[in-house]
Amino acid sequence: MRRITMTLAAGAAAAALAVTLPASARWHTGDPQDQSLRALAADHGLYVGTAIDVGALSDPTYSQIAASQFSTVTAENAMKWETIEPERGVYNWAPAEQFMAFAKAHDQKVRGHVLVWQNQLPAWLTEGVADGSISKAELRGILHDYITAVVTHFQGRIWQWDVVNEAVTDPWDSPDGHITYKGFWYENLGAGYIADAFRWARAADRQALLTYNDYNIDAFGDGGPLDKTQFVYDMVKDLRAQGVPIDVVGSQAHLSTRYGNYSPFQIADAQQKFASLGVATALTEVDVRNLMPAEQTGDTMNPLLQAQAYDYSALMQGCLASRHCISYTVWGFDDGHSWTNTWDFGAGAGAEAMATLYTADYQPKLAYRAIQADLAFTGAPQVLSRIPQHPTR
Ligand code: XIL
Repeated sequence: MRRITMTLAAGAAAAALAVTLPASARWHTGDPQDQSLRALAADHGLYVGTAIDVGALSDPTYSQIAASQFSTVTAENAMKWETIEPERGVYNWAPAEQFMAFAKAHDQKVRGHVLVWQNQLPAWLTEGVADGSISKAELRGILHDYITAVVTHFQGRIWQWDVVNEAVTDPWDSPDGHITYKGFWYENLGAGYIADAFRWARAADRQALLTYNDYNIDAFGDGGPLDKTQFVYDMVKDLRAQGVPIDVVGSQAHLSTRYGNYSPFQIADAQQKFASLGVATALTEVDVRNLMPAEQTGDTMNPLLQAQAYDYSALMQGCLASRHCISYTVWGFDDGHSWTNTWDFGAGAGAEAMATLYTADYQPKLAYRAIQADLAFTGAPQVLSRIPQHPTR
């Protein structure tokens, strides 16, 4: 860091201000439109990331954009349990290692995704529990051993681990009228698995930042029993009070323009409230879907492109507003490789898509320009450089 003294004239009075800026000069020469997201974000100490589809890395345009625009990467599927341990005791590190090599070659920090989640588990595990051949006690040991094996394998190479993913219910899926825990691990082991998982991960890597990651926690609601963000906030507060090593809260931020939208202030408020617990925050899986119009014309497409750009920007501004928001990761960067093309979000498979920053032929969309401009045109006094997070001891 270097210190720069600027003199600001405020009416008749002039005040001398000492402003601390990152050593990488804030004032780039040239047009900000020609600068990558990762270069512009570096001025804020922010990492901008993407999920990587390992199978797409053979496409040179895909690789070139992934390498040049992003300073952190997440494996979209290659580090999920069904891929890493497809048969009991047989580990398949190759796809994950291909991804790790790409990150290393391009000087990118890695978000490890994901250790404990109810989806994309191997059949031997879920079927073994279902047919009783794996007991509850054995299951807890299996989880311990898996976390230990995976975190140890990648030890020293992971910046942030998504330790526990999507552990709580949604308002529309909370029959008792309040948000609670959900899923395979809760049903079989009780809520204690969450604290266990963080402790086991910390024991295997003392440097990686440990993250609780979830969706629909982008903004607070009414603070009542069906407010998922409030539930996660209270959960993280309780766990940290017990000394559980949670360092980061990750908000996936899968949005759709068909729903009412957040203002940047609502996003900023949530980022700042979580940070008040002593954790850093991260936006971990940003995408903004559109209901696909029957016909793609200017009349149908332009409003969608603008609404999408607004949401990407609101998330970026909300992140920049908190000095503890350390990364902004998109869940795929081009419409050709987005999970939204095949996923059913309620309107049918693929009915909500066009969710990323680039078209399928790799042209940047308005959303790309919006977050690029947010990064280029923001600074003091509201936007200050990030405060790096350190692991909780
Ligand atoms: C998705 C992938 O993008 C798809 O390719 C896969 O078929 C299903 O999972 N929340 C998460 C991510 O934490 O792991 C999910 O990724 C998207 C929702």
